[in-house]
Amino acid sequence: MKVFLPKAVAVAALSLLACFGFAGGWCALDAQQPAAAPAVPPTTVLVAVDQRQTLSLNGDWHYILDPYQNGLGSGRSGYSADEELPAGSNKLVEYSFAKSPTIKVPGDWNTQKESLMNYEGGFWYERHVQLQPQAGQRTFLHIGAANYRLRVWVNGQLLCTHEGGFTSFDCEATKAVKAGENSVVIFVDSTRIADGVPTLKTDWYNYGGLTRDVSLVTVPTSFIDDFELHLDRATRSAIEGYVHVEGAQAGTRVSVDLPDAKLHAEGTTDANGRVAIRMAATGLTLWSPETPKLYHVVLKAADDTLTDEMGFRTIETSGTKILLNGKPIVLHGVSIHAEAPFRSGRVNNDQDVATLLGWVKELGGNFVRLAHYPHDQRMTRAADKLGILVWSEVPVYWAVQFDKEDVFAKSQQQLHEEIRRDRDKASVILWSIANETPNNASRTAFLTRSAEFVHQEDPARLVTAALLVRGDVKTKYIDDPLGKALDVIGFNEYIGWYEGTPEAADATEWKIAYDKPLIVSEFGGGAKAGLHGTDDQRWTEEYQANLYRHQIGMLNKIPQLRGATPWVLMDFRSPVRELPGIQDGFNRKGLVSDQGKKKAAFGVLQKAYKENGLGHAE
Ligand code: GCU
Repeated sequence: MKVFLPKAVAVAALSLLACFGFAGGWCALDAQQPAAAPAVPPTTVLVAVDQRQTLSLNGDWHYILDPYQNGLGSGRSGYSADEELPAGSNKLVEYSFAKSPTIKVPGDWNTQKESLMNYEGGFWYERHVQLQPQAGQRTFLHIGAANYRLRVWVNGQLLCTHEGGFTSFDCEATKAVKAGENSVVIFVDSTRIADGVPTLKTDWYNYGGLTRDVSLVTVPTSFIDDFELHLDRATRSAIEGYVHVEGAQAGTRVSVDLPDAKLHAEGTTDANGRVAIRMAATGLTLWSPETPKLYHVVLKAADDTLTDEMGFRTIETSGTKILLNGKPIVLHGVSIHAEAPFRSGRVNNDQDVATLLGWVKELGGNFVRLAHYPHDQRMTRAADKLGILVWSEVPVYWAVQFDKEDVFAKSQQQLHEEIRRDRDKASVILWSIANETPNNASRTAFLTRSAEFVHQEDPARLVTAALLVRGDVKTKYIDDPLGKALDVIGFNEYIGWYEGTPEAADATEWKIAYDKPLIVSEFGGGAKAGLHGTDDQRWTEEYQANLYRHQIGMLNKIPQLRGATPWVLMDFRSPVRELPGIQDGFNRKGLVSDQGKKKAAFGVLQKAYKENGLGHAE
C-alpha cells in the first residue's frame, strides 16, 4: 500500500528517521551548513587598551575540536550554550567543556599538542570567570589576535564575530556579563579561504587559535576609546591630534598631560565626542634610535583616565631621502616573522620579543620589517623602548582576490585595526599595504585605494609596499605602477638564490623609475645551520655568506637605497619547505636558525651595518 504524505511532512519524517536511525553518527539535520552568524555589533579597537587595568583571561581554556562546525548547531550540539548537565540528568547533550581537555591561551594550538600540529579548522575554547559588574560601567572582551575567523559568546549571548588573524579588537560584553560565574565560549576557525586576507597560499605556517592575550576591560560609561597625538611635521614644536570620548555629552572636559615635560592641553568635546588637541612642545627630547625617549601621557575625560607611554618624532620623505626629525636616515634592518625562537609557534611573550629584537641589536640594526602581518603589540612596545624603527604590514600577500570588493573591505579593516592599535608607537614609521602582488589593473586599483586609505587614517606616517622587480640578473627594473601611490618603495629580489649565482649581482644594473626612497625589503638565500662547504655549495653557510657579500656590494651601488630588511632574521616554519635533512618544514633563509644558532651570514651583515656599509642616508 503506497502512502502519499505532503512534501514537508515527508522531509520532516525522513530527517527524524535519519536522526534516530544512525546512532552516534552526526544526523542529517546537523549536516546542513550552519547558518551564517546573525548580525552582531561590530567589534571596535580600544586605543592603548594594554595600558588599562584589565582582568587577564590568559591561562588554561577547555577546548573541543570541531572540523565539521557541528557545535554551531543548537540544542544538544549548540556548544555556545556551554551546558553542563547536573548528575543523574537524562537530557541529551553531546558535548561537555568541563570534561574536555585544556589548552593554553595565548598560543597557537598547533605547537601545543602533537595531535594538533597539522590541524586547520574549527576549534572551540571555553572558560568561566567570576565577575562583579558595577552600574555605570561598560565591559569589553579584548582579543589580541585570533586566527582566522572567530565568534564569541558570553553566557550564551553572541557578542561579536571577526575575520583576520593578526589584529586586535574588542567586543562589548556589558549586556551579557552578570554577577558571579560567567561562561566565555569562543569559536575560532583557522581554515584558509580563497577570498581571505591572506588567501590560500603563504610561505608561512597557518598557526591557528587565540594566539595573543585575551582579557576583560572595564571602563566608565563614557570613556576614551580613541586618541591620536603626533609632533607636527612643519615645526616639530607642537603636539597635535585629537581625543574621542565614547558616550560623552557634548562639552565634556578633556585634558592631556605630559607631566615629565610639564606640558598640558585641554578642551571640551563636540557633539561627536571629539576634541582637537594642540600644545606647544618646546624642549621635548625627540624619539630616535639613539634617544628612544618615551613620555608618560595622561588623558582624562569625565570619570575616565587613560595613560600611555609615547615618543614624539617626525617621519617624512624629501625627494629620495627619508627624514627622521628632519634629518636623513639610513635603515639598517632585517625582516622578521612572528615565529617563536627555540620552541616555534606564534610569538606571544616578552621573552620571545626580547630574543628576536636582541639579535637585531646584535646585528647593529635600527630597523625591522614585521612580515607579513601585524605582530604582537609587545613587539612594537619593545621597539619603542629599544629605539628600533618598524615597518608594519598587512597580509595582502601574493595573489589575493583584488577584483573583489569584500576582499578590499577585509584588507581595509585590517589596516584600520593595525593603525588604531599602533598609531601611538613612535617606532612605527611605515605602513606596508602589500607584499609581492601581481602587476595588473585590479591589483593596482585595489592597492592605490589602500594607500589613500592609510594616508587618511594616519597622515603622520609613510606608506610603502614590497614590490616585485622586472628583468633578469643583468638588468633589473623597479617600475611597478603601484610605486606611484607609495611614499617609499620596497622591492624584493633574490639574485643568487632563485635566479643566477651570487656573483651575478656584481654586474646587475638597476633601472629605477621613481625619484623616491628605496628599501630592499627582501634578499637572501637558504642555509642549514652547521652545514659547511665551499661558497658555491647551496644550503651551506658559506654559500649564504657569499651571497650576502655580493648582495651588499650590488645594493650599495644604488644611490637612493635608504634601507634594507634582508629575508630573514630567523628560520621559520613553512608548509611549502619540505626538503628532508635541510628544510624539514622550515624556510632556512634565516641568519639565525630556529634554535638560535647564528649562521656565517649573520656576521657578514653585522659587519656591513657596523661599518655603515649598506644603504645611504643621503
Ligand atoms: C618571498 C616572500 C616571502 C618568502 C620568501 C622566500 O619573497 O615574500 O614570504 O618567504 O620570498 O621565498 O623565502
